[in-house]
Amino acid sequence: MDPHFSSITGFISRISACSIVILFLLSSSTFTCTDAYDALDPNGNLTIKWDVIQWTPDGYVAVVTMYNFQQYRHIQAPGWTLGWTWAKKEVIWSMMGAQTTEQGDCSRFKGNVPHCCKKDPTVVDLLPGTPYNQQIANCCKGGVLNSWAQDPATAVSSFQVSVGAAGTTNKTVRVPKNFTLKAPGPGYTCGPAKIVRPTKFITPDKRRVTQALMTWNVTCTYSQFLAQKTPSCCVSLSSFYNDTIVSCPTCACGCQNSTSRGGTCVSADTPHLASVVAPGKSDNTPLVQCTSHMCPIRIHWHVKLNYKEYWRVKVTLTNFNYRLNYSQWNMVVQHPNFDNLTQIFSFNYKSLTPYDGLNDTAMLYGVKFYNDFLSTAGPLGNVQSELLFRKDQSTFTFEKGWAFPRRIYFNGDNCVMPPPDAYPWLPNDSPRTTIPLFSSVMTFLVSLVFLFVYV
Ligand SMILES: *[C@@H]1O[C@H](CO)[C@@H](O)[C@H](O)[C@H]1NC(C)=O
Ligand SMILES: *[C@@H]1O[C@H](CO)[C@@H](O)[C@H](O)[C@H]1NC(C)=O
Ligand SMILES: *[C@@H]1O[C@H](CO)[C@@H](O)[C@H](O)[C@H]1NC(C)=O
Ligand SMILES: *[C@@H]1O[C@H](CO)[C@@H](O)[C@H](O)[C@H]1NC(C)=O
Ligand SMILES: *[C@@H]1O[C@H](CO)[C@@H](O)[C@H](O)[C@H]1NC(C)=O
Ligand SMILES: *[C@@H]1O[C@H](CO)[C@@H](O)[C@H](O)[C@H]1NC(C)=O
Ligand SMILES: *[C@@H]1O[C@H](CO)[C@@H](O)[C@H](O)[C@H]1NC(C)=O
Ligand SMILES: *[C@@H]1O[C@H](CO)[C@@H](O)[C@H](O)[C@H]1NC(C)=O
Ligand SMILES: *[C@@H]1O[C@H](CO)[C@@H](O)[C@H](O)[C@H]1NC(C)=O
Repeated sequence: MDPHFSSITGFISRISACSIVILFLLSSSTFTCTDAYDALDPNGNLTIKWDVIQWTPDGYVAVVTMYNFQQYRHIQAPGWTLGWTWAKKEVIWSMMGAQTTEQGDCSRFKGNVPHCCKKDPTVVDLLPGTPYNQQIANCCKGGVLNSWAQDPATAVSSFQVSVGAAGTTNKTVRVPKNFTLKAPGPGYTCGPAKIVRPTKFITPDKRRVTQALMTWNVTCTYSQFLAQKTPSCCVSLSSFYNDTIVSCPTCACGCQNSTSRGGTCVSADTPHLASVVAPGKSDNTPLVQCTSHMCPIRIHWHVKLNYKEYWRVKVTLTNFNYRLNYSQWNMVVQHPNFDNLTQIFSFNYKSLTPYDGLNDTAMLYGVKFYNDFLSTAGPLGNVQSELLFRKDQSTFTFEKGWAFPRRIYFNGDNCVMPPPDAYPWLPNDSPRTTIPLFSSVMTFLVSLVFLFVYV
């Protein structure tokens, strides 16, 4: 297919996925696109690979490796939990680099007692600082997995498992079933294990290639809808050409004084704030500062300056959560001018091109040891950057909110945007009350036509 054409259909189906949601939810005040398919990371998945590296008298030894191929969704502390169901009566004799949370009933064993006898073991990573004799490469990070675009080297996690009472040839081994991945909450769905071509390993001196005795893969995908999370971030907007600051939509992430939508919060001027917000022994629930939006994270986009050939934006991320430091945070922004980003100050930039030929999506993240750590609410709880864009005279305009982002994600979650008709206007620009609905109906119809013609 013509690449230009495929990028257009990609773009249209990307808009339509949201337009459909918008069409149905137009009456509600806040909405997000929460489909399982992530339009900005269409191939995003987490792959779990089992490589059998040795047969034993009653089973096998496998190295299990998890690759977080998602561009910008990471797994932060307290980390991943992996579960599965054995196909037969397998047991785990021992593990390196991870452990099961429960041993289960091993009473049928005399002498050597297995590490775990449960039919459905649950595995967690070991913590950093584990003795070297219990480690393997890529283990022991407390279950933290970085995202692929941010740092592929730390987006991998491995452990080794020695399985007994199992098949001992590639014909008698039964692959485990019903994989579950928690991060640590719900959100991921894992497919069945598929036997694939055995992995080839190249020795460090590159002079010899060895291969696994047998390999199977499991693919897991994330859905914000399954995670059933209330939104965790919102967007506010301002500009040099209009004094109005468009704040986050009220109740974007919850309402104050509402018991149903997590209404507890702490006012910033509470006396003895530090002791009020200190986490209790077992209490790690978020505690946010009282705001009209009640979001733990707010992202402010300020259109700051207009030069002849360039324009400049200031982006500020503010943490309103008293109980969470966000380490290795990232944000993803979609704006048509990213293909002409000229300079970015104090954040890292990586272009994401989910559709060939469309370079409108950027991942922004902190500079290591400088601002990759977004501290808890308070004077240190913010990070900021400025972006300089080169104007493409054929598309550039300050009208109709063009200078504002189309979509923003924080740590992989879609942020609640103000409604388009509230965006700051250019003086004398007329409000657009009917056009947003009209245009989403149009893109919906156009994409339906595309669906019928090309699917
Ligand atoms: C998972 O992601 C990798 C890397 O993007 C990709 O090569 C692979 O095809 C994906 N797997 C599935 C089942 O989508
Ligand atoms: C099992 O091993 C045999 C050779 O030992 C090989 O021909 C066959 O393809 C293997 N099967 C699988 C599923 O790996
Ligand atoms: C695996 O999951 C399916 C669907 O959730 C369920 O029907 C089946 O009983 C499960 N199998 C095992 C062995 O737990
Ligand atoms: C299995 O997963 C590994 C690691 O992600 C990948 O290199 C390999 O291509 C996958 N195999 C298949 C058939 O998807
Ligand atoms: C929440 O309740 C307190 C006390 O009942 C009241 O002072 C405050 O105005 C309420 N806030 C909102 C946003 O309704
Ligand atoms: C956040 O980080 C700071 C500095 O490292 C630390 O003192 C504080 O205890 C952390 N807070 C939480 C809730 O983890
Ligand atoms: C997207 O545009 C930016 C800014 O011009 C450029 O740095 C980046 O390399 C482009 N990415 C791709 C994949 O073309
Ligand atoms: C903006 O970027 C596109 C794609 O990289 C390029 O074709 C175009 O010339 C650029 N425009 C300006 C004004 O630099
Ligand atoms: C600024 O934008 C707001 C909409 O957010 C609009 O109500 C107001 O009239 C605009 N101000 C000027 C001076 O145009």
